[in-house]
Amino acid sequence: MIILKIGGSIITDKNSIEPKVNYDNLDRISSEIANAFNNKSLDIADGLIIVHGAGSFGHPPAKKYKIGEPFNKEEYPLKRKGFSEIVLSMKKLDLYVCESLLKHGIPAIPIQTSAVIKASNKRINNFDLEMIKNYLNEGYVPVLYGDIVLDDKLNMSILSGDQIIEYIASFLNPDRVVLGTDVDGVYNKNPKIHKDAKLIEKLSSLDDITQMESTTNVDVTGGMIGKVKELLTLADNGVDSEIINANKPEIISKSLQSKIVKGTKISKK
Ligand code: IPE
Repeated sequence: MIILKIGGSIITDKNSIEPKVNYDNLDRISSEIANAFNNKSLDIADGLIIVHGAGSFGHPPAKKYKIGEPFNKEEYPLKRKGFSEIVLSMKKLDLYVCESLLKHGIPAIPIQTSAVIKASNKRINNFDLEMIKNYLNEGYVPVLYGDIVLDDKLNMSILSGDQIIEYIASFLNPDRVVLGTDVDGVYNKNPKIHKDAKLIEKLSSLDDITQMESTTNVDVTGGMIGKVKELLTLADNGVDSEIINANKPEIISKSLQSKIVKGTKISKK
């Protein structure tokens, strides 16, 4: 079984204030996933879960409504409006993703994150995986995504696709966990700022990263550092993962087929 995350910066224009799909990338990635599974060595019925990010469909409204910060009673109506707006926006993006996957022959099943997951202080505390397992057993491809969720402590919080991956992978023990991002992997410094940044091929601790700036200022879920933290927790539970560049053609396809590609492996082994 494989769990694949597609970053929001790949399938949307992440720097846009308005929600904007990157149709070229979305179509290419769907076709790469389909091609990888048309290859005889991989069978979709053996299990594939896709989790995608939010990009410009989630980060700008999450920032606008200051989701995740404590608020008082008077502010609740406005916060609810924000909650609803983000849920609807993410459903739209997910529909584009699932339609694109289906067009390429992948039997995608949208699973609305905010309808199945609850958090406590920004961490998942309630997520029944039974339906996901049922769909997997029947050969479907469940598709989840970073979303806004109900939160026992904060009323509402933003849940990253990376945390969903960490949770699902800890319980379902997949053979592979692959994260498609817009960089070649994890660098010791932010490669978009520092020319001398070096790619880390195998990462087993946060200490391997010397300078920690977020990759974009619009990111409400912690950018690359947030991602690495989730994946290190996963590695603690014995599940390794790989971060690759989904902006470059054929990397996702090759990686899914276990061919060697540039990237960072997160492992404690
Ligand atoms: C964020 O999810 C969810 C919202 C902002 C609603 P992610 O953290 O997984 O999204 P990307 O990949 O950074 O866009």
